[in-house]
Amino acid sequence: MSSRTTLSRFLIEQTRAHQTPAELRFLIEVVGRACKVINYHIGKGELGGALGNQGTENVQGEMQKKLDVISNEILLEANEWGGHLAGMASEEMEKPYQIPGCFPKGSYLLVFDPLDGSSNIDINVSVGTIFSVLSCPERADICGILEDEDFLQPGVKQVAAGYAIYGPQTMLVLTLGNGVKGFTLDSEMGSFVLTHDNMTIPEASAEFGINMSNMRHWEEPVQRYVNEMLAGKEGPLGKDYNMRWTASMVADIHRILVRGGVFMYPWDRRMDKDKGKLRLMYEANPMAMIVEQAGGAATNGRIRIMDVRPEKLHERVPVFMGSKQEVERITKYHKEKA
Ligand code: AHG
Ligand code: MN
Ligand code: MN
Ligand code: MN
Repeated sequence: MSSRTTLSRFLIEQTRAHQTPAELRFLIEVVGRACKVINYHIGKGELGGALGNQGTENVQGEMQKKLDVISNEILLEANEWGGHLAGMASEEMEKPYQIPGCFPKGSYLLVFDPLDGSSNIDINVSVGTIFSVLSCPERADICGILEDEDFLQPGVKQVAAGYAIYGPQTMLVLTLGNGVKGFTLDSEMGSFVLTHDNMTIPEASAEFGINMSNMRHWEEPVQRYVNEMLAGKEGPLGKDYNMRWTASMVADIHRILVRGGVFMYPWDRRMDKDKGKLRLMYEANPMAMIVEQAGGAATNGRIRIMDVRPEKLHERVPVFMGSKQEVERITKYHKEKA
């Protein structure tokens, strides 16, 4: 008999040791269950007829893939009836999702990117699901209808965050605010099993991820930093760096959680002032919480991502996250220039 810890057992032990509320435990279990269903559909690929475009656009103006829509629906259906949520918001929906009146409501808000890296889905490269859990403000508790404003809380208010990565192995990586745990899906048994007990990001690293094709549009501090890394041993940083970019944030951050590095999606000249490409509420904030809980750092070049006060549900933010020394350096370069 294997004595490995399943996600369910881990969550129950958390409840005992840290008073994790039973409602939050249930929420994480339900999200885990939904990720298993998403994993099933992704794994079927062309056999399930789920590859390719849906033919619609989301509120960001992106072409939706069929699996963006399927994954969104799976998360909504799994989470709407359990009584643990006051509402949900997603990359794929312009407005918050209201819990149907026939179901009880709970005290949490769930915000998600149902399928991250979906441009990779047709080429069979790792994709993921990212989620963030917030408490519902009392105002919405009282009047019932959720507004965008109820979700507009800074990342420091998150009570949990995680992602599923659908790759050679499917994993669920989770933080409840006391470290980062990684669970691997045992498909035959149908359970997530604790395999990565204490995921930590080394302070120093020599690997970076950024979409280099945008280089000419970046501002000076980012150009400087990347040029220094490219200069290698002969440059001011005195060491050679390696570069990796999968174009799935989940895969790029997972690599950093396993072996260190820095991930960047900076502001560039084509974007609104102080904004980025990645979305604050369901990409940057949950990943920032995980990265910080693993001993790394996450800033928008100036301040901690989790301190940014969101003004819009689908707000975008520049992102620098990963090994502390690297994130501190790029943040320093931004501040020197300000
Ligand atoms: P999504 O598929 O959820 O819209 O997110 C895509 C994001 C992120 O996963 C990735 O880091 C980035 O877009 C890739 O951008 P490029 O196309 O510029 O490489
Ligand atoms: Mn998208
Ligand atoms: Mn995404
Ligand atoms: Mn997405």
